[in-house]
Amino acid sequence: MSRHFLCHTNDIHELTTREFALPLEENGSPISVILVRYEDQLYCYKNHCPHLGVPLNWQPDDFLSIERTHIQCATHGALFNPSDGYCISGPCRDDHLIAYPIECDENDKIWVIMQ
Ligand code: FES
Repeated sequence: MSRHFLCHTNDIHELTTREFALPLEENGSPISVILVRYEDQLYCYKNHCPHLGVPLNWQPDDFLSIERTHIQCATHGALFNPSDGYCISGPCRDDHLIAYPIECDENDKIWVIMQ
């Protein structure tokens, strides 16, 4: 198990997302994760669409639908609940994003926990 610093709690605002490349590799590529703040809760997911296994975004740190209600895959438009990663619409409907646990420490630092 390893723990990786992402950012401070005041570096991510309500209904925004950020992307982080971890110092870990999978199949020769760094693992990229998404941090989202939704209804004042923080969630972390792998930046990996369950449909084709590609990154979810086209633009850096830009993962939300226009309405900012869901995480959206830029390739075919699948929509995922920010709170549980469940896909409600699109070619991978009923599938899930891969979620990672996070911790906030006493210094307001956010860490992702990798198994
Ligand atoms: S690659 Fe994400 S919906 Fe197709």
